[in-house]
Formats: sequence, C-alpha cells, structure tokens
Amino acid sequence: MTPESFAFLAGLVKSRSGLILTPDKGYMLETRLVPLLRREGLPTLDALALRLRAPSAEALAEAVTEALTTNESSFFRDGKPFEHLRRALPALARARPPGAPLRIWSAACSTGQEAYSIAMILAELAPALGGQRAEILGTDIAQEVLARAREGCFTQFEVQRGLPVQLLVRHFTQEEGRWRIAPALRAMVRFERRNLLSDLRPLGSFDVIFCRNVLIYFDPPTKARVMAALAAQLAPDGVLYLGGAETVLGLTDCLVAVPGERGAYERPRPTAMAG
Ligand SMILES: C[S@@+](CC[C@H](N)C(=O)[O-])C[C@H]1O[C@@H](n2cnc3c(N)ncnc32)[C@H](O)[C@@H]1O
Repeated sequence: MTPESFAFLAGLVKSRSGLILTPDKGYMLETRLVPLLRREGLPTLDALALRLRAPSAEALAEAVTEALTTNESSFFRDGKPFEHLRRALPALARARPPGAPLRIWSAACSTGQEAYSIAMILAELAPALGGQRAEILGTDIAQEVLARAREGCFTQFEVQRGLPVQLLVRHFTQEEGRWRIAPALRAMVRFERRNLLSDLRPLGSFDVIFCRNVLIYFDPPTKARVMAALAAQLAPDGVLYLGGAETVLGLTDCLVAVPGERGAYERPRPTAMAG
C-alpha cells in the first residue's frame, strides 16, 4: 500500500469514528480488510482507497470503518467498576422519584457482555432497589457486534471469560452449543447504533454511563470532546466508568475521579460558597 493510500484510509476512519491508525498499523489494515477486499472484488488496499474516493462510496466507507474497530469484550470486565456499581445503585435508586426508571448506558457496548453484566447486577439488586425500574441502553458504531449483542447468545469461550458459573447457570440456557441470556434480562437492554462523535443529546440523561475501552483508540482532542459530551448526559449525582487504561486527567474538567474508586468518575460537585 502506498503511504498516500494509508493516509487516506487513516483520515477516513478517524473522521468517521475517532479511531487513530498510526503508520505501524499497516499490517492490521491488511489483515482486517482482506475479507472486505474479497467481497468487493478489489485486488489491493490501493484499489480500495481509490474506490473510496468515489462520491457513492458511503456504504463502503462505513464497512471499512466497522472492520477496523476492535470489539474485544468480556463479562464483568476488570471487576472493580461492577463492584462499585453494586454499591452505588441503591443510593441512586433512593434519590430518584418513584416510577422514574434508573437509566444506564453502555456506550461502545460491542457484543453486549457489559450491558448484560449490568442487567445481572440489577436482577441481583432488585430487592434493594425498592421496585425502582431500570433500563439499559447499549450503543456501538458497529452493526455486526450490535446484531450479536441483540441476539444475546455467547460461545463457551465467551462465557468462560469473567462470568461466574452461578450466574451462568442462573441467567443462561444452553442452546446448540451456545449460551442464551434469559429473556427477562434480554428485555432489560435495548441496543441501538450510535457514534460517540455524533450529537449525544437526543439520548437524554443517564444515572450511570459505562464508556470503557474505546477512548484509548482516540487522540487527546477527541477523547476530551467525547468525555465532555458524556458528562453532559450524566445526571448530577450519576457515575461514569472508564476503562483501566483511560483517565480524565489533563483532558476535561467536566469529570472528576470518585475518591478511592479506580475507573469511576462523577461530575464535579459545586463547592459551597464561603460567607
Ligand atoms: C474494545 S470494545 C469495548 C467493549 C466494552 N465497552 C468493554 O469494555 O468490554 C470497543 C468498542 O467501541 C466501538 N467504537 C469504536 N469507535 C466508536 C465510536 N466512534 N462510537 C461508538 N462506538 C465506537 C467499537 O465498535 C467496539 O465495539
């Protein structure tokens, strides 16, 4: 691939998704785009870059962007945020008027393990939440992972990563060698396509936002912009979880770390005026 083709593809993916492709990612481009090249009958990445310059290449540009996303996920990934959520939810539920559902957003949800982990916690905590309803929204830029998330079916390998066996037995049934999430949990989650770079305001306000292991792929200005946009959708007493390698430090003042809780952030509380 010529440096011009690489720069063109990297520019296209960054403008559409925020994902940064550094020149050392040439190999990744090759491996991830081979199936797409075959499907399109294109011989090389240079030919792909050329095709993408055509005005009618919208669907192809979308497919290229999606193919270059990293969709790695697992149940209860990193543990800590889910432990914190378990402790935080009862107080959040008490602070809401009866009948106002708790709103939880798994932004960049990939194949749905994060959203379903949250659903399992909500099911477990139901008595402590005093009958407060909850809704979970899972969003991602990639259609293919969203289709898998909606299906709610996981391989043996996937359920072995992070899902305690008691929860597997309680909430999943085996079906043709895979594990299907229980309908009651499936019904708690809605999945929809949403680019984190788009206007997030139509989604409304959330009590809890998980936005984990996606900002690492963005450059600092894009991270800062997305964090500010997420903070704007977070309830004043809500909590936002980032991935283990992600931080708000030096990027935004709209969020501050929850003291002593790794990966948990909140909106800065207004300081009391002296006098
Ligand atoms: C590594 S997965 C993280 C999944 C899950 N949050 C976790 O921590 O296990 C990153 C996800 O971010 C999605 N993604 C990348 N860029 C995005 C964007 N601009 N808007 C929304 N989702 C995006 C990818 O499609 C991918 O599914």
